[in-house]
Amino acid sequence: MGTKVLNIDTLSIDIGLIKEAAGVIHNRGLVAFPTETVYGLGADALEARAVARIFEAKKRPLDDPLIVHIWDKKDLYALASEIPLEAERFMERFWPGPLTMILKRSEKVPELVTTGLDTVAVRMPSHPVARKLLEISGTPIAAPSANLFGRPSPTDASHVIEDLDGRIDMVLDSGNSQIGVESTVIEFIDGKIIILRPGGITAEEIMDFSGKKNVVVYTALDQLKKSPGKYIRHYSPKAPVALVESSPDQVEKVISLYEDLRSGSRSPGIIAVQEHFEKYKGLRVKVLGSRYDSRTCASRLFHILREFDREGVDHIIAEGIDQKGLGLAVMNRLKKAAGIH
Ligand code: TXA
Ligand code: MG
Repeated sequence: MGTKVLNIDTLSIDIGLIKEAAGVIHNRGLVAFPTETVYGLGADALEARAVARIFEAKKRPLDDPLIVHIWDKKDLYALASEIPLEAERFMERFWPGPLTMILKRSEKVPELVTTGLDTVAVRMPSHPVARKLLEISGTPIAAPSANLFGRPSPTDASHVIEDLDGRIDMVLDSGNSQIGVESTVIEFIDGKIIILRPGGITAEEIMDFSGKKNVVVYTALDQLKKSPGKYIRHYSPKAPVALVESSPDQVEKVISLYEDLRSGSRSPGIIAVQEHFEKYKGLRVKVLGSRYDSRTCASRLFHILREFDREGVDHIIAEGIDQKGLGLAVMNRLKKAAGIH
């Protein structure tokens, strides 16, 4: 059976269509839906059989836990057995929005959702279509990103179809994801806030809110292994990615790599910051965004990786950017796409 695509205008949501999608969720089906970060692949979080279908459709390993999405704070009390005071403060400040919190799980959460861990990841999205779907479904929705395991997360409905057509029941198409990288995942351990995955809420925002010394960002490899998306090569296009970090001779390094690949009859593509675009004249290049605008860079990253795949580019050379603001999340995804260890 093919996957049904419903177009939903975010600004004037057709409730009839949302009800149709909620019906699929009720029947233990799979619905891909837009969020402010990336598209999610949703199923009823309290129905193990529905959740099992998510792993199947994505070909996701059974030891990679899912995020549970909620509409209202009251839903949290059914999912989490303990809510630290600090978590309450974070909810007040950042929900609804691109922040996922790891909390002690309650008995109600199927083991499959948390893959046997004693914690559960919860987030309240802000996208109006996601919120309506959660509200009308009347149940929490487990949803990883709606891509095949290991591929770049989908930032529009065509990406979802590219990976999952025929494998899921429905896609709600509301155009481009605004943020373009996934939510920030945090955990509260021994009075510290651990950023397991940098994402849509920046580390600076979290530090401003909680005090710099209370926040730990996981970056080292051993930590990366324990953190979300722990499989080292991740977010990957089909083409291998080489990451050239920011340095005085960054452009020269990129060009020399490019020429090497060309002379080996490869078809390389460059992902560059806007400021360097002119320097790559005549080469195959796509602009991520200005190096001073990490928001734009984040919103375009996954789209560009997939575009290069579609165009048959077989090696991607990406310029690194500063790890400020959303630059931290962009660099985290690029490092994983490059499989850097
Ligand atoms: O923005 C997002 O978070 C998107 C949208 C759809 O909400 N979702 C998303 O889900 O990115 P996913 O499955 O692609 O990434 C969730 C990550 C996983 O890599 C998983 O390792 C981590 O969250 N995670 C889930 N439960 C966890 C837990 N109990 N402890 C530590 N990490 C957990
Ligand atoms: Mg994912």
